[in-house]
Amino acid sequence: MNDKSEFRQKAALVTGGAMGIGGAVAKMLAARGAKVLIADRAEAEGNKAVAEIKAAGGEAAFIKTDVSKSADCKAAVDKAIELFGRLDVVSNNAGIQRYGTVESTPESEWDEVMSVNLNSVYYICKYAMPHLKKAKGSVVNMTSVQAFATQRGVAAYTTSKHALIGLTRSMAIDYARDGVRVNCVAPGTVDTPMLKYAASLDPDPESVYETCRNMHPVGRIASADEVAEVVVFLASERASFVTGACYSVDGGLLLPIGGEPKTSQE
Ligand SMILES: NC(=O)c1ccc[n+]([C@@H]2O[C@H](COP(=O)([O-])OP(=O)(O)OC[C@H]3O[C@@H](n4cnc5c(N)ncnc54)[C@H](O)[C@@H]3O)[C@@H](O)[C@H]2O)c1
Repeated sequence: MNDKSEFRQKAALVTGGAMGIGGAVAKMLAARGAKVLIADRAEAEGNKAVAEIKAAGGEAAFIKTDVSKSADCKAAVDKAIELFGRLDVVSNNAGIQRYGTVESTPESEWDEVMSVNLNSVYYICKYAMPHLKKAKGSVVNMTSVQAFATQRGVAAYTTSKHALIGLTRSMAIDYARDGVRVNCVAPGTVDTPMLKYAASLDPDPESVYETCRNMHPVGRIASADEVAEVVVFLASERASFVTGACYSVDGGLLLPIGGEPKTSQE
């Protein structure tokens, strides 16, 4: 479905909407009729995304926001209400990836990951919830396959993404009777600036892409649009009986169990 009127008269706040998955969500919501406020720390990219939405005939605005700060999150929600008079959809995407075990992760970096990936969702939802209750709106949080499984040396990120499932479920049950649905999406590897950054840490960035492609049973990584489609579905009335859920969008990444029975090689 690609109905331009699906989100007509509705307003959305998209964190991390300047680029990557959040950027794709912001553009898709706008293309389907929503008024979109992008809250991101990246000013130039945020303004560029707004310009692209407007050029395509959509309605959008940008507010420079550091989602790790409660005051900034409150300001973003206030701005959405000031601009649009309502809030129907909150799409929390802002996130950072850091690497390390509990020994090698500096305490400041642990706090940074928790603030950006987890506390931000608490702050944004705390301030957005009164408006979402009025609109009987919906929240979609961006977790990761690393909410279910993990790799070596990703302690802080994995912990933040596991915790987001707990926060999603808590809010889903707390606000179910208010008509507010809260879900999350767990992508596998997605082609975004975050992946480019992760690959750049390797002496052979292309080998990182190659490894990522090969580890997904479908043999490729996702585009940001493929993840945005699921976010937009969960945010829409089409998902009216879905709350507290976590949708994997992972090209089968979480399917394999190590070791293959002999018959599979015949
Ligand atoms: N790319 C992947 O493979 C992948 C896989 C699973 C989950 N995710 C998750 O999806 C979300 C989006 O990831 P992406 O790949 O699009 O990342 P990205 O780095 O490409 O984009 C992230 C966006 O968040 C913004 N941001 C970061 N810190 C912020 C802060 N403190 N305040 C405001 N904005 C901030 C950035 O400016 C950027 O616009 C993240 O939560 C990430 O953990 C990504």
